[in-house]
Amino acid sequence: MTQSAPNHLNVVILAAGKGTRMYSSLPKVLHALAGKPLLGHVIDTARTLNPARIVVVYGHGGDQVPKAFADAGVQFVKQEPQLGTGHAVQQAMPLLPAGGQTLVLYGDVPLTRPETLTAVCAHPHTLTVLTAVLADSTGYGRIIRDADGRFLRIVEEKDAAPAEKAVREINTGIVAAPTEALAGWLKALKNHNAQKEYYLTDIVPQAVAAGLEVLSVHAANEWEIAGVNSRAQLAELERRYQLEYAQRLMARGVTLRDPARVDIRGELVCGQDVEIDVNCVFEGRVTLGDGVRIGAHCVIKDADIGVGSVIAPMSHIDSMQAGPDCRIGPFARIRPGSVLGGHAHVGNFVEMKDVQLGEGSKANHLTYLGDATIGRNVNVGAGTITCNYDGANKVRTVIEDDAFIGSDTQLVAPVTVGRGATLGAGTTLTKDAPAGELTISRAKQTTISGWKRPVKKKVS
Ligand code: UD1
Ligand code: CA
Repeated sequence: MTQSAPNHLNVVILAAGKGTRMYSSLPKVLHALAGKPLLGHVIDTARTLNPARIVVVYGHGGDQVPKAFADAGVQFVKQEPQLGTGHAVQQAMPLLPAGGQTLVLYGDVPLTRPETLTAVCAHPHTLTVLTAVLADSTGYGRIIRDADGRFLRIVEEKDAAPAEKAVREINTGIVAAPTEALAGWLKALKNHNAQKEYYLTDIVPQAVAAGLEVLSVHAANEWEIAGVNSRAQLAELERRYQLEYAQRLMARGVTLRDPARVDIRGELVCGQDVEIDVNCVFEGRVTLGDGVRIGAHCVIKDADIGVGSVIAPMSHIDSMQAGPDCRIGPFARIRPGSVLGGHAHVGNFVEMKDVQLGEGSKANHLTYLGDATIGRNVNVGAGTITCNYDGANKVRTVIEDDAFIGSDTQLVAPVTVGRGATLGAGTTLTKDAPAGELTISRAKQTTISGWKRPVKKKVS
């Protein structure tokens, strides 16, 4: 954790609410957007501000929230019972270093940009509220100003008079305040309102009474202030997030056949002239080199794919490193630990797991390769299987450079095929195959002349 400088920033994230409208046993802030819990988005954004401390106020759902973020480098405080947003922030105050500024965020508002929060924090000696002007302000706290536009207070929907309800400027809930003043204002909160709650919003008139000018900042985009209360809203924000990501990729030279049909659940780093066809899902960290082409309907997780490689449609890749100009798929399944040298080919209905496939080597059809080290320029014929599992242990197969594996071959590991060796089709290899030689295990072909097919017996 950073040393608390005199003007340090604390972040308090409110995440105690139940999320009734999600109809879920999972606390709302643990529902995923782009593969990451809502709260994870908020914590990651908060971290970009280099705060001295991040405190998450949790409540509903037992210890699920602190468990899910045990390694996130944040602190947790339980709010029980939940007596309102002001009461929630109050729970965090004992954990905050004195002095500096405190920024309050909501765990269910995932997409606020760091630039926006930086603007909210720009005046550390006064209270700043992130507000928005909405066409329909129903449900939100309304911003009440005097005739000169000075910020006076925030009134909740349930406490608002008809004229106040007509106000379209709303409170997003995100506020920043000097920590010491905030602590004092929170202590003075009363719950004399329609919901019998301690409203965080009631700090505004106190700041005004203390002679502070209360500032407001507008977010550049409506989605930055949007909260998630239902699965429909979650889906809406997911689409928004994906579209924004897609726009950024296109702006950097990536062709997306349809920016509305790509899902990035992690980080996708692309070189120039990458082409991505429809309905691809990227998870974890995926890097695509210049000129990589991804066919339709691929699912790719944690992969580094070299310049000029082509992934044909319907391929499923989980943890792979591939050199330049590889050809993978259609219908390839690549599992963790796979490393492909340049110009390697992995064709249709080929499954690979923990395989190093050397430069220029090919496994083009209907094959299972597991726990194998395969050299360069090896040709693996259709229907090859590395028998890597004896029912208890996983064992390795080694195939050296320039070997040729005939079709329908089983390699019963541990076994080594020497450099330049050839295995005849249909071989079941149980001992090492010497370099440069042809090894065959099948019986010699014979013809039984005059043999007749059986015929069906007649039933009388
Ligand atoms: C709050 C604001 C309202 C604003 C709106 C924006 C207050 C009094 N009202 O209203 O002005 O327009 O957000 O969405 O602040 N939470 C806790 N503990 C509690 C209560 C809430 O942690 O005791 C958390 C919730 O999990 C949620 C956030 O605070 O993340 C907001 O709570 P919510 O009940 O949605 O507030 P609103 O009534 O919508
Ligand atoms: Ca809300």
